Amino acid sequence: MGPCPHEKNLFPVKPLAERTDDLRQSDIRAITQMVNAVDGINLGQGICDLPTPLPIKEAAKGAIDDNHAIYSHYAGIQGLREAILRKVQTYNHIPATSPDEIMVSVGSTGAFVSAMFALLEPGDEVILFEPFYGYHRNLLQLVNARLVFVPTQPPDWGIDFDALEAAITPRTKAVIINTPGNPSGKVWSQAELEELLVLLQEYDLYAITDEIYEYMLYDGRTHVSLASLPGAYERTITLSGLSKTYNMTGWRMGYAVAPAPLCEKMGLLNDLFFICAPTPLQHGAAAAFAMDDTYFGELQATYDQRRDLLCSTLGRIGFDVPWPQGAYYTFASFAPLASQRAGFEDARSACETLIQEAGVATVPGHSFFADPTDGRYFLRFCFAKEMPVLEQACAKLLAAFG
Ligand SMILES: Cc1ncc(COP(=O)(O)O)c(C=O)c1O
Repeated sequence: MGPCPHEKNLFPVKPLAERTDDLRQSDIRAITQMVNAVDGINLGQGICDLPTPLPIKEAAKGAIDDNHAIYSHYAGIQGLREAILRKVQTYNHIPATSPDEIMVSVGSTGAFVSAMFALLEPGDEVILFEPFYGYHRNLLQLVNARLVFVPTQPPDWGIDFDALEAAITPRTKAVIINTPGNPSGKVWSQAELEELLVLLQEYDLYAITDEIYEYMLYDGRTHVSLASLPGAYERTITLSGLSKTYNMTGWRMGYAVAPAPLCEKMGLLNDLFFICAPTPLQHGAAAAFAMDDTYFGELQATYDQRRDLLCSTLGRIGFDVPWPQGAYYTFASFAPLASQRAGFEDARSACETLIQEAGVATVPGHSFFADPTDGRYFLRFCFAKEMPVLEQACAKLLAAFG
């Protein structure tokens, strides 16, 4: 056989689709392997090791025993959509009035995929704030959206509305919002959302707003949904889900809220991609919406405590720490250490140094910026860990670098 005509091709047949060319195992998985090799503590991956609440587990087990085993409606079982509707009306103050405005999907990620396919033509411009959540960037690239990045700056990651307006062109179709944000922890204020809405209306743009961390808020902040503002709902797709609030990332339970005609199209796309979210788990998920306010109070207190511990520890070892306003990450800068200590030259080396010297894994900051050099002095730490584990991680950090 002669040489393969496709240099880049790993397979002895025709090349794979071009869209697979840039797909790589994310840094996060490689780092997980590295920290496992030293039997360390993983504060990298954004997963929560706290238990899923019992009523949710019991309801799912009951649904399995009762043979709720067939495909559901593509947009979810009626009871769950009704429960979500009540929740978005009362907690988010979104003016949805019917379950037809709710679509259940395979995580909020499934809902994001359906939202992108419903809104975007290849080449449409989409605005993404930096630092961004990697899946937003990578999925948008997969549908050939043209990404336009608008930077935000620590410590409060405020929005530069002049920069945002300058980024809008006649081809702009949508703006992606993530509040509370991963990795920055930024919580959009009502005033900021109002200012954003003026631009959305003036330039006739959609917003896709990812609110998966909506219950994790600090220092008395409240969560405001863009779709609750007068005039916003018609141009907003709100995404959320149960992964983070109820410690059930592996269940893949998420949803979108949008005006009925848009939600209908997203549901039809959801049908094509996934047919439906797992039926018995939807029955389990419905039980989440019957949990009372004490659950959210405890959740809040739990995360407050964890944020205090991690942020103060990082401050003590010399990091510059913008305390997050929401979500469960600290996106901290080690710039002050870069000139003082070996092993902190850039985010990758700092990440490796923390694993080797303290046995603690993080995510290098370059994963959250279009230009990796913008994230070179940042590491993301996830504090959604059982308290003894987080305490141990902080003790190890202090012992190594304190
Ligand atoms: C901002 C953001 N959105 C969405 C997700 C994933 O949510 P889901 O499990 O509902 O797909 C994550 C998970 O880390 C996230 O950080």
